[in-house]
Amino acid sequence: MSRDADFACGACGYRSAKWLGRCPECGGWNTLAERRAAPPATATLAPRALSDLSVTPAERLPIGLAELDRVLGGGIVPGSVVLIGGEPGIGKSTLLLQAGAAVAAGGRTVLYLSGEEAPPQIRLRAERLAASRSNVLVACDTDVERMLATAREIAPALVVVDSIQSVRCADLGAQAGGVAQVREAAARFVALAKETGTPVLLVGHVTKDGTLAGPRTLEHLVDAVLQFEGDRHHAQRLLRALKNRFGPTDELGVFSMAETGLVEVPNPSELFLGRRQTQAPGSTVLPALLGSRPLLIEIQALVGEPVQGSPRRTALGLDAARMAMLLALIQRWLGIELAHRDVFANAAGGAEVVEPAADLALFAALVSSATRRAIAPDWVILGEIGLGGEVRAVSGVAARLREAARLGFRVALVPHGSPGRDAAGIDSIEVDTLGAAARRLFGGAVAPQIG
Ligand code: TYD
Ligand code: MG
Repeated sequence: MSRDADFACGACGYRSAKWLGRCPECGGWNTLAERRAAPPATATLAPRALSDLSVTPAERLPIGLAELDRVLGGGIVPGSVVLIGGEPGIGKSTLLLQAGAAVAAGGRTVLYLSGEEAPPQIRLRAERLAASRSNVLVACDTDVERMLATAREIAPALVVVDSIQSVRCADLGAQAGGVAQVREAAARFVALAKETGTPVLLVGHVTKDGTLAGPRTLEHLVDAVLQFEGDRHHAQRLLRALKNRFGPTDELGVFSMAETGLVEVPNPSELFLGRRQTQAPGSTVLPALLGSRPLLIEIQALVGEPVQGSPRRTALGLDAARMAMLLALIQRWLGIELAHRDVFANAAGGAEVVEPAADLALFAALVSSATRRAIAPDWVILGEIGLGGEVRAVSGVAARLREAARLGFRVALVPHGSPGRDAAGIDSIEVDTLGAAARRLFGGAVAPQIG
């Protein structure tokens, strides 16, 4: 915190970042004195044996919204600060008002501090969300010190600050929203959390490219950074952790924005597969594993006609480097000329799939589009591919296939020797090379050159 130079008036308590001969508040002369930090501790530390350190983790406060708790790692850790970033209008205020109401429903007090909206606006939204609770205390202000003093006085179970860009530290002088302001304000809320053990949820606005002054510069100050995203024209909203000091970063929270606010989606596969064109070439389904949850995701590819010059290569929600490797392998193993063709690939529904287990599904979608042969609509495809064209084992096969079976898929193409494939209630076909996979997928229509 940049508060090394801090002066206070002995007469009226006015504070200033620099020394002044006359107090602007009470007019007293020579009343400002430097406020010194506590003298450095001279006592020694009391280190304890590593083997004696407590293993009991701080007890988390479950928010009561399962999808949010899942991404946090089972609730919010006392004394931690969580930043929730997202574009304006995506639903951050809605999410946090619902989170506040959920905590309050458990009989705890929540302090909701808004520098963006007026009380009537907040009240109207709360009514719409059926989130009006008497133990959600709302204060609309922008002054950080007043907010901190209020939080200390009320000692709530949770503090929500909406948004970190809208508040200002009066003693810093600069405009609200500037980088220095945002950083200092966040640092003061971090200090409050550490001192009092109160967890704090901070809202941070991010622009499309994620560069707006604010959240990105706060990432190392806070304990967790969650990103709330989605297409404003669609109802689906995804919450994921970009950083989490106390939990996983691969869990995905799924919500749907409805008339009455955010609705949790406990079984999101249906949502992700929603508008699938099952008969089109270039499409197949991956049983992905996001954190602890299996999720069926449509993998789409479009391979264009040969073009002059350098072809375009785009991978949305998929790993572009792995796609480049797959294109080289398809050319080598199947003799399909791809060097001069545009290639687009997409994990449908805005999902982000970076696990190598997606390789075989993406391979299948690419070959399917290049050869215009559709993949059977009731298949799911799973497996990592090595540079030698071998199909390698992946983790969590049983959970993935159970989810596929639950949604009515009948056949799974999986790596050779996948454990747990029989217990899942779906027929599985094992393959150990790309050539074998191509034969099983496309029969005689694609002639492997190797394998
Ligand atoms: P909001 O939470 O204000 O977004 P942010 O705080 O991220 O800027 O909500 C944004 C949009 O959500 C708003 O334009 C309307 C929509 N919305 C609903 O569809 N249903 C609802 O119940 C609410 C409260 C909002
Ligand atoms: Mg808002």
